[in-house]
Amino acid sequence: QEEKVTNVEGKAYPTDHWTNAPPNILSHVQRRIYLQENHPLHLTRKLIESQFPAPTYGNYTESFPVVSTEQNFDSLGFPPDHPGRSRTDTYYLNEKTVLRTHTSAHQADYFRRMNNDANKEEGYTVVADVYRRDAIDRSHYPVFHQMEGARLWERPEGMTATESAARIWKDFEKLPSHGVEVEDPNPVTHPVRNPLQSKYHSQEEVEALVAHLKRTLENVFVKIFSEASKAANTPQDPLKLRWVEAYFPFTSPSLELEVFWQGDWLEVLGCGVIKQDLLNNSGVPGRIGWAFGLGLERIAMLLFNIPDIRLFWSTDARFISQFSDGKIVQFQPFSKYPECYKDVAFWLSSASTSGTGASAAGGAVPFHDNDMMEIVRNCAKDIVEDVKLVDEFVHPKTGRKSLCYRINYRSLEHTLTNKEVNDVHEKVRTSLKESMGVELR
Ligand code: PHE
Repeated sequence: QEEKVTNVEGKAYPTDHWTNAPPNILSHVQRRIYLQENHPLHLTRKLIESQFPAPTYGNYTESFPVVSTEQNFDSLGFPPDHPGRSRTDTYYLNEKTVLRTHTSAHQADYFRRMNNDANKEEGYTVVADVYRRDAIDRSHYPVFHQMEGARLWERPEGMTATESAARIWKDFEKLPSHGVEVEDPNPVTHPVRNPLQSKYHSQEEVEALVAHLKRTLENVFVKIFSEASKAANTPQDPLKLRWVEAYFPFTSPSLELEVFWQGDWLEVLGCGVIKQDLLNNSGVPGRIGWAFGLGLERIAMLLFNIPDIRLFWSTDARFISQFSDGKIVQFQPFSKYPECYKDVAFWLSSASTSGTGASAAGGAVPFHDNDMMEIVRNCAKDIVEDVKLVDEFVHPKTGRKSLCYRINYRSLEHTLTNKEVNDVHEKVRTSLKESMGVELR
């Protein structure tokens, strides 16, 4: 019997009942657009990296996205039932191997590397492509890019908490201050939601770490938004920032930073004080520190006024030629091609209920929104702009559930013909029937 494998750039991964990473997604691995000079993501990356200079920080990229579930989840303390592990949210090559869902998958490896005496760096940034099964709309794409960063301080045995905190405050004093308005209403720790890791840290150390973390990241946004407002031809509202409480399995306390942009608060990054167990398990028990992770597309879309996340993957000269490294410009949209929406309505197979994710007995396929999205994406590739659930009801007599989705087809590069859309839509319908066991209406 021949063993089935998935190949990713010459590496073979045996498939099993967890495998769900389709060729269309895997084809993005080789693109490496964050390495491509004059690409807006490359430019955004360089701009942020300039805020994390040598010799304190090393700036890295990780170009191979296949990692173990140990790296992506276990090493970071994700509980066994965390929703991020589910096959509806994550692309699996097999039970033990995934396309990384975040750059944090490399934290333990980077901490281990910092233990090397030859490495005098106290922190790092790392940029990489990450993969998530998600909705389809103009700000979500199953492949996107994150930058992770961390900064560690040595705390040798015998050093008191007061001495340790004082050293971090000394580094804090070296950070430039800025005049930007920052809302920051919460205490640094919360006894239930964001507890002090009291087994390892003192309150004064964590106060110092969080102050350093906040100021460092505020400065990143002050820098990039001052560049952006120089490029804008209309006067911009002054930048406003806000810190809110968050939760991540691998940091405590945890925070998110939001930016007020064109009338809305937008979340731009997650961060926190690294769980000491992670450092202890990665060969650096004598250090404490902070980490952050941010999405590059989200920031680049704000900076350049890019309206659709699919554009980052475009090879169209009308897009690519607008950008050059070192300078922020306002994206000039080229013509917008007409949209064409089509509805698809179907009955769920009787044993399946939408949204439970529980595996149904008797061969019925449990229905999850993200599975529907994956089918549309596989059939339509990049000519789908968004997919929305527009109707949902339960038949009063049979108890069967019906869903109706509206698929909005639009190419960024040409006008779609009726035939093109009809063919793709027919493929979506067939595929829904065949792989999800639904009954088309
Ligand atoms: N990995 C987190 C995410 O993808 C972000 C994060 C990184 C949070 C590092 C805290 C520390 O949402």
